[in-house]
Amino acid sequence: AKEPVRVLVTGAAGQIGYALVPMIARGVMLGADQPVILHMLDIPPAAEALNGVKMELVDAAFPLLKGVVATTDAVEACTGVNVAVMVGGFPRKEGMERKDVMSKNVSIYKSQASALEQHAAPNCKVLVVANPANTNALILKEFAPSIPAKNITCLTRLDHNRALGQISEKLNVQVSDVKNVIIWGNHSSTQYPDVNHATVMTPSGEKPVRELVKDDAWLNGEFITTVQQRGAAIIKARKLSSALSAASAACDHIRDWVLGTPEGTWVSMGVYSDGSYNAPAGVIYSFPVTCKNGEWTIVQGKNTGKYDPITC
Ligand code: NAI
Repeated sequence: AKEPVRVLVTGAAGQIGYALVPMIARGVMLGADQPVILHMLDIPPAAEALNGVKMELVDAAFPLLKGVVATTDAVEACTGVNVAVMVGGFPRKEGMERKDVMSKNVSIYKSQASALEQHAAPNCKVLVVANPANTNALILKEFAPSIPAKNITCLTRLDHNRALGQISEKLNVQVSDVKNVIIWGNHSSTQYPDVNHATVMTPSGEKPVRELVKDDAWLNGEFITTVQQRGAAIIKARKLSSALSAASAACDHIRDWVLGTPEGTWVSMGVYSDGSYNAPAGVIYSFPVTCKNGEWTIVQGKNTGKYDPITC
């Protein structure tokens, strides 16, 4: 039998946490044959709710779940973890300036970064979900200098999956037949969802999305704004921000990173930029990546002339 993998979820008593921990315990993130031990961190005001989540995990009797650590202590939470999904943070609220959120997140990510640096398992893979995700990931990286930059990523897979979903709805095809969209840049409304290399598997073979959709005005307009503003549309409809789709995307991100992307397929991940595609170096930026043996690699050569996502 495989040794259990320890997976940390911070902000585990929150909405995304509540959707995410059962997925992890079911094997959605690391595979149906991979036992897991869940580490859940939240802050003291949420301790009782966190304990409630732990009770439900016990009640769900997940066969793969070999243990649960539920704590408000960052060191205890980070000790020995192989995967860390950082969902906890201070989201921007109405009337708050960006810099106010930033200073709150700096103090949160500073202490969690050092707890991870000192206590996580070697080669721990980190995924930052909490917004602003790119910035929080960079803050974490700055305060955990001994964690290799390649191990610190942020979530743009939700945007990637939203783009796949929009194409599948537009063409009335299965989402599993659509692949290779790209999210460039940030997880924010300034991201660039790019379909210029995306394809659909059809009965007569793989076809470019641009050829099938035909409607360039839609692809260059409404498609992009729908993906960019999907988060806001979900809040409007649900009165709460995306949770199940965010949790599912976090599982997709880690699964592909650990187990590899399928041949001929890339996914979008926010990773430490080496300046590829003239994106600024040294920031956490979303690129198309393939993964193999637990390592991501930026896919090169995918800019497309007048649609060049970085200069456009
Ligand atoms: P939520 O407010 O329901 O849950 C957040 C949880 O984090 C709460 O339980 C809170 O007590 C906890 N928390 C706060 N400070 C903490 C700290 N210092 N340490 C540990 N836990 C802490 O929020 P929700 O809906 O679960 O969203 C979480 C974050 O994910 C937000 O920042 C949100 O903007 C972001 N998000 C990111 C997405 C992405 O695609 N990258 C998509 C959707 C949400």
